[in-house]
Amino acid sequence: MSQPDWLILNGRFVTAILECSATDAPLWRYWGPRLADGATPGAALRETRPLPTFSLDFDQPLSIFPGLGVGWFGQSALLAHRAGEDWTFQATSCLVERDGNAATIILRDDVAAIDVEILLKLDPASDVLTLSTKLTNKGDQPLDVHWLAAGNVPLPSDAKAVRSYGGRHNGEFVAIDDPLSRSLWRRENRRGLTSHDAFPGAIVTCDDGTTYGAQFAWSGNHAQQIEWLDDGRWHWQMGEWLAPGEVALEPGEALETPEMLVTCAADANGVAQNFHAAIRSRTNWPGGTMKPRPVHLNTWEGFYFNHDEAALKDLATSAAEVGIERFVLDDGWFAGRNDDRTSLGDWWPDANKYPNGLKPLADHVTGLGMEFGLWVEPEMVNPDSELCRTYPDWAFCVQGRPAITARNQLVLDLTRPEVCDYLYQKIADLLATLPISYLKWDHNRDLTVAGQRPKYRAQVQEAYALMARITAAFPHVEIEACAGGGGRIDAGIARYTHRFWVSDNNDATSRIAIQRGFLQFMPPELMGAHIGAAPSHATGRVQSLNFRSMVALPGHLGVEFDVRKVEGAQREALKSWIATYKTMRDQLHGGKVWTGDAGDSLLWQAHGDEGEVILFLYRTLPTALRYSPAIRLPMLSEKRRYRVTPLGKEASDHDGAWLKAAGLPSPPLRGEQAQIFRIIAL
Ligand code: DGJ
Repeated sequence: MSQPDWLILNGRFVTAILECSATDAPLWRYWGPRLADGATPGAALRETRPLPTFSLDFDQPLSIFPGLGVGWFGQSALLAHRAGEDWTFQATSCLVERDGNAATIILRDDVAAIDVEILLKLDPASDVLTLSTKLTNKGDQPLDVHWLAAGNVPLPSDAKAVRSYGGRHNGEFVAIDDPLSRSLWRRENRRGLTSHDAFPGAIVTCDDGTTYGAQFAWSGNHAQQIEWLDDGRWHWQMGEWLAPGEVALEPGEALETPEMLVTCAADANGVAQNFHAAIRSRTNWPGGTMKPRPVHLNTWEGFYFNHDEAALKDLATSAAEVGIERFVLDDGWFAGRNDDRTSLGDWWPDANKYPNGLKPLADHVTGLGMEFGLWVEPEMVNPDSELCRTYPDWAFCVQGRPAITARNQLVLDLTRPEVCDYLYQKIADLLATLPISYLKWDHNRDLTVAGQRPKYRAQVQEAYALMARITAAFPHVEIEACAGGGGRIDAGIARYTHRFWVSDNNDATSRIAIQRGFLQFMPPELMGAHIGAAPSHATGRVQSLNFRSMVALPGHLGVEFDVRKVEGAQREALKSWIATYKTMRDQLHGGKVWTGDAGDSLLWQAHGDEGEVILFLYRTLPTALRYSPAIRLPMLSEKRRYRVTPLGKEASDHDGAWLKAAGLPSPPLRGEQAQIFRIIAL
């Protein structure tokens, strides 16, 4: 029996092992918790797998690139053809190039005339394995591609449940729990952008609690599926959802997938921490490092479209006085924009609202020591706009079909260079002439069509390129990704942006759930979280300023109401919450995050490490129990003693072993009340 070549990638707590052969795609032998150095499966599966009755003489196990029509009966990594021919795939040669903790797997299929390169990178700092795939048409006819998986990974046989996320505008990150069964589990998104209702990622839990996570770094259509395998394992696959005719590769042309990020940890918090580390390493901060996340004032819910220059200057003065550090002028500032029916595309200041342009307001803001940020929605156009009247053919449409508006707007075809040049020029004019250091980049509709021939993926690539072009020319500018709240939150756009607007729903109780979903995949410093008005504009619920502040505090804090109107004790409280955030943000935003549910509507969230933790305790509903449950804190060390200080209250000392196993007694809280604790090892 020959010894195959093993491709072994080790992280701190994870291991991936593939069985390689010169004439076939590598087989997946292991992906999961770290194995001892040098541990291998011993024998080659290709030579030792027993042959069940009624099987092919070679029954394919799961490979890194399973092909159709060659003995693999599961989901294929590739669905493609040349006018009905060349629809099967089987590597005829395989070369593995290893480079440290990364490997490129080069597959060639001489029969189908297709080359495939799979890039695998295991980052030991995060334990996240990144997979992407590049396919090249080596034939002399066009190759129609319907599906090309970015990655194919195995899940162990005791995987039992998958949690994915659905939702809608004002209700993002709704957890959807499905048991894994022999039915194919599949989620698809065909809305043209990441979407509110199908976050491109999920976590899978196993019987022993081991948890796997995956997310797809892409802001467009996508699909993911998990399928049971005959050997008891499962196959998880992610890729772009391609529309019919979307990808027809000419001879020599290549298709490169976005990246699939996968990881594995002892529990869901471990998966979140790994993803946070991976996303942190992808974020491109101006100047190379993240500066403390400045407190925002966003004008949207306080002013909507009613911009009045004098009132906004007063607002800025009032905002600076309570400690706000960045003033973001939201929708309503540009030519003719008095409601959501007109003007998208006309990116110059409204002459009635701002007779001298935005400079007087921007200078006033920066003169107060705050940064000035501006809202834009570059990919959109209202039919009622100068842009649309001048270039009516710049919006996506399909001949013979009515253009379908959403929020009265159409989507510009960014694949036309003149469209991106126009948008770049308009935004560059603003950035070059005003002290703008921040753009809130919105996208307020789903795509129906994306051109006469579908160009969904090209649209996403062009949006990324436009963002990159802007930040290359104006490297001090940060960008917030927004799409009607959380419609464009993903690891793909995270390379180009610096904050996500997670939801238009600022209701603190709704936010707790939304933020927990977000934090499963994204770090807290990217989580735009605002103290909203009471009653909440989205839900009508009234919550105290304290509760609203404590829910927003762990993220990238902002305020979204007219702070001029907050007076007396409330104003002092707001100032004090902003000051508290400033003392905590370094710890909130650099380290690990844990979320937990103590039962009885008592939820907690902790930021820090074993030595020091900031704990947020949230009660969403009044207790149904005589005595509230204790909060068990898994991150503390049983060998240390801790001083626990509830904010504004007396401290008490506890054994770590007790806090870990029995838990911190929870204080009496009414529904929609919270408490923050600082827990420091003595
Ligand atoms: C949707 C965003 O989510 C809001 O915050 C706000 O910017 C509006 N668009 C403006 O139209």
